[in-house]
Amino acid sequence: MVTLRLNTSEDDIERAGEIIRSGGLVAFPTETVYGLGADALNEEAVSSIYRAKGRPSDNPMIVHIATIDAAEELASEVSETAARLMEEFWPGPITFVLHKKAVVPSVTTGGLDTVAIRMPSSETARRLILASGRPIAAPSANISGKPSPTNAGDVLEDMDGIIDAVIEGESSKVGIESTVLDVTGDIPVILRPGFVTPELIEERTGIVAVYDSSLKEVHSEVLDPEGGAAEINGFRPRSPGMKYKHYAPKARVIIVEGDIDARREEFEKKGTSVAVLDYGEDSMEAAHSFFSDLRRLDREGVETILVRPLAREGLGFSIMNRMLKSAGYEVII
Ligand code: TXA
Ligand code: MG
Repeated sequence: MVTLRLNTSEDDIERAGEIIRSGGLVAFPTETVYGLGADALNEEAVSSIYRAKGRPSDNPMIVHIATIDAAEELASEVSETAARLMEEFWPGPITFVLHKKAVVPSVTTGGLDTVAIRMPSSETARRLILASGRPIAAPSANISGKPSPTNAGDVLEDMDGIIDAVIEGESSKVGIESTVLDVTGDIPVILRPGFVTPELIEERTGIVAVYDSSLKEVHSEVLDPEGGAAEINGFRPRSPGMKYKHYAPKARVIIVEGDIDARREEFEKKGTSVAVLDYGEDSMEAAHSFFSDLRRLDREGVETILVRPLAREGLGFSIMNRMLKSAGYEVII
């Protein structure tokens, strides 16, 4: 298959919308990461996303919409809290898990009776959704297990020849995936940390959201001075996406809590090619660049990537979730 390169002109967005309507796959920019989109209500089309990504089919999709009202066509119940949060944070990098209506096929939700919904702030993304006239199911547009793509070049690295089209639009401003917030219960629960943090939610709405207990591994990995893989005791994922190998480049990624330059020298002495990723305290820059840096270093043939961790609070908590996964929880002092 030849993957069409489309731009953000009226004509090309129309064409992309037509591909979605006819059951095809289109990669498109969002403010978080690029998504691999298909008609969320078309079982065949959604199945082909799983095939293209090599993704386990019990891992549910996020359904993207262009207006807040569209959520009511997909969710059977939107609580007052959920409505308040949508009003405050949509369009934007937050996804809400809600009870689903029958119209959403089970293949889209990985067999769950809930559906994850997001209204992206990317204009290109919303224009595509409107042009297609459909809600668009879209996971990140990478081969399952690899770092999420934040620009069209990184999408094509994984998906060229496998999908119908890519919209070569803006690169993703945020750079890590949306916050996934379960709003089906009394207390909103963060299943995947993202740009919208519990601190920001409380500051802007007074609503208290809590991290799912499976996310505590961000604070509890074992420091192993030998550099072996750390053990995470009792790690039980609740969001199905959390249990698979994730965000991993070809290179070995190691988080270095201590003197990163000393570690770099040690690895170099052994004859390994090493790169250091150090974002200082700049969590915005870390979020924006981490995934694309991993892909760039792979292209450069680097064998070991040493990463300086961020403070595990606020946006830093969300980034450390990604960094630890990409390192397979390998942390050294
Ligand atoms: O920023 C994003 O969210 C990007 C862009 C393209 O919008 N999409 C994305 O999709 O990251 P994906 O498929 O890579 O991640 C979806 C996450 C997974 O962790 C999945 O388990 C969780 O959302 N999820 C989806 N539906 C769910 C549900 N009904 N209940 C619990 N978790 C759900
Ligand atoms: Mg993903």
